[in-house]
Amino acid sequence: MKVTIVGAGAVGASCAEYVAIKNFASEVVLLDIKEGYAEGKAMDLMQTATLNGFDTKISGSTNDYSKTANSDIAVITSGIPRKPGMTREELIGINAGIVKEVSANLIKHSPDVTLIVVSNPMDTMTYLVHKTTGLPKNKIIGMGGALDSARFKYRLSEALECPPSDVDGMVIGGHSDTGMVPLTRLATRNSVPVSAFLDTDRLDQVSEDTKVGGATLTKLLGTSAWYAPGAAVSGLVQAIACDQKKMFPCSALLEGEFGLNDLCIGVPVILGKNGIEKIVEIELNDAERNKMKESAEGVKKTNGLLDV
Ligand code: 2OP
Repeated sequence: MKVTIVGAGAVGASCAEYVAIKNFASEVVLLDIKEGYAEGKAMDLMQTATLNGFDTKISGSTNDYSKTANSDIAVITSGIPRKPGMTREELIGINAGIVKEVSANLIKHSPDVTLIVVSNPMDTMTYLVHKTTGLPKNKIIGMGGALDSARFKYRLSEALECPPSDVDGMVIGGHSDTGMVPLTRLATRNSVPVSAFLDTDRLDQVSEDTKVGGATLTKLLGTSAWYAPGAAVSGLVQAIACDQKKMFPCSALLEGEFGLNDLCIGVPVILGKNGIEKIVEIELNDAERNKMKESAEGVKKTNGLLDV
């Protein structure tokens, strides 16, 4: 199993580290345009192999896509991250050109690759890859919901004063400060609805904190976060690589599901060796359906800025 990660910045490198530590891939190639950077990160990570006990071979390359040939899965993290005060949508101008070029280069050397898009604005970048590459829709996956759901569970665990592992929950919708739809109605603590423990105001606060989860970290760190994004991507890579049939909210091309068409947005999907094997159309109530509709309008507005 060969995994390529384009962009050896903080998210890409953290993703490579988590993939390696989970020890399911034979090979990880890190690629970056900055001379020597991916090689350096790969060497540093390889020097953790005996310490962390993994056998995955990590190598780095300065923009030589021939090194990525025959990748099974490729992760696109390239592009600029947001700075404090910026929205993900503001990155579209620079990142669209980068994502288009990177996906074309990847497919040239790995025509059967499954692509995971992380670059922001993620839902629009995922749509761009659909529009420009001709890859089948099951092989193009946007990573946002897995991360947003992890942040949601963290915020719920804070409110519940319990370990995050006690909590289950999911965020669907667009990966943006206004577009996320945390499904508090379906969130549970060990199968008990969280509404049994928390009142509506507290749950609304949890939702709001979740939606600005990335922005809060960007403000604290001066750039966007990397540990949780890297870990979330590695979870998707593992589900595909190991044919786990696990369910994650991911940005997928919708063709009528959830009453939505011609956009990529976060919905629950089953991930296995064929990438997105199924979109799970869960029953939403009216309020959730309306939020999803509004979120889709926001994503479509950003898609309208694309030159496709
Ligand atoms: C985030 O931290 C990477 O979009 C990203 O939310």
